[in-house]
This record gives sequence, structure tokens and C-alpha cells, in this order.
Amino acid sequence: MIPSTLTEAKEYLENKISFEPRVAIILGSGLGDALKDVTAAVEISYSEIPGFPPTTIAGHKGKLVAGKIGDTPIIAFCGRFHFYEGHSMEVVTLPVRVSKLLGANTLIVTNAAGGINPDFRAGDLMVIKDHLNLIGVSPLRGPNLDDLGPRFVPLVDAYDPSGIDLMERVADKIEIKLQRGIYAALCGPMYETAAEVKMLYTLGADAVGMSTVPEVIVARHQGMKVLGLSCITNEWGWVVNNKKGSSPSHEEVQKIAAALKPVLSRFISELIRGQTSL
Ligand code: HPA
Repeated sequence: MIPSTLTEAKEYLENKISFEPRVAIILGSGLGDALKDVTAAVEISYSEIPGFPPTTIAGHKGKLVAGKIGDTPIIAFCGRFHFYEGHSMEVVTLPVRVSKLLGANTLIVTNAAGGINPDFRAGDLMVIKDHLNLIGVSPLRGPNLDDLGPRFVPLVDAYDPSGIDLMERVADKIEIKLQRGIYAALCGPMYETAAEVKMLYTLGADAVGMSTVPEVIVARHQGMKVLGLSCITNEWGWVVNNKKGSSPSHEEVQKIAAALKPVLSRFISELIRGQTSL
């Protein structure tokens, strides 16, 4: 059985969008309007879609954009639902479930993240090669939705290895610096303590944020190919190196994310254009 919240959202969107999307994109903190290259775009506010609550965070716009990048039909979710907002994991992962029901086989997830790796600089882009789920909850807990995917989901290679290679080739081609690393997700909404930053570094995390991992798990549950990108908005290397520094603020994160939008837009466009493998 597919839950009625999913089929209602799917049917509503099918009537509004005249094509089957191939790629779904989730745009994170401050990145909501990053895609500049979508043609024949239809915009649908989340408040219109059955089962979609309004987003509550500044910088998360709360609309869906459906259209084409090059010849590829896409849907982009501009604004996401976070677990820390009090949403259930079903709501957090609703865009991913609905994307697949609409026909998308690839998910590109983006987020704003703090750089744990001391070599990372605010303003870097990082391809996510793996993750640490430190949110403490699984979006697959509860009865399995057998019609959507299996009970036990392998997550080794959750981030498609050929997608990682593709992102590195595209970054080379358009000459942007691309870091590569492990994304750790914590529940938030508080930023990390110094002890937590040191723990994350010890665990091998390169970046930290408050999202993405539930969406990736659900995408893999339903067999979607996943590509992940973090926009490094602040540096934590000072903690790792026992230097002086300060915690990020939401404003700082938003400011750096906003500055990264043009490069993110270009990168995603280039990634999708002419890519029959996505
Ligand atoms: N920690 C957690 N989430 C974040 C950060 C951070 O440093 N920066 C942007 N999102």
C-alpha cells in the first residue's frame, strides 16, 4: 500500500506538470532560488500541494519548480522540511517519495554545511561521498512500505560512484574547485559544541549539517541514484586546531550560501545537460 498522503500529492502534481521529471533536486538553506537555468518552468507553492506543510525557516522558500534543464525534465524543491522543525520523518522525506512516484530516478541533494575538515574554506563546494547519520532516527523506522522499497536497504555506495566521478569531471571542465568528503548530519537546530566538532573530526566527518541524510536514505530505499553537494558556509578548523574562533550564525550561513548560488546553479546545469546517465 502506498500512503494516501503520497498518492494525493502525486496526483495533484501530475495534473499541474505535463511531463515526467527525470531528475529531482532539493535545494537547501539559502539556496532556494539558485537554479537560473530552468526553462518552461511551472512554479507551485508548497501550500498548494496536499500534505506539504509550509516551511518555517528564513531562506527556505517553500516552492516546487518543474521544468527543463537542457533537454532533461526536472523538478526542484526550493526549501526543505527539517526534522528539527518538529516534522515527522515522513514529512521530511515527502519530496523524495513524491519525486519517485512522479517518475524521477535521480536525486540531487544540496545543503549548507559547516566545514569540519581544516582544509575546507567557507565558499567551497563539496561532493558528498558518504555520510554519518547522527540524527539518531531512521526515516525507515516503522512498517516497511513494501510497494516502494525493501525492508533492509544497503547504504554502501549510497552516493552513486559514477555520479561522484561525473561531478568531479564537470567541476574540472568548468574550472571550479570541488572538495570531496563525508557529511555528518546532526539533528540541530543548535550549532555544534567544540567537543562535538572534535568528535566529528575524530569520526572522519569533513562537513556537518542538519539535513540531507533522511532524504538520501529514503531515495536509496526506493532505488534512486543519489548525488550530494554541500556548500561549505563556515569553518570549524579553528576548533580542530585549538585556535580561537567563533560559532557560525544563521546570518553568516545564509550570506555565504547566497554568494554560492551562481556557481551552484552553473554546476547543476552543467551536470544535468546532456547527461543521459542521470
Ligand atoms: N553546523 C550545522 N549545520 C550547519 C552548519 C554548521 O556549522 N553550517 C551550515 N549548516
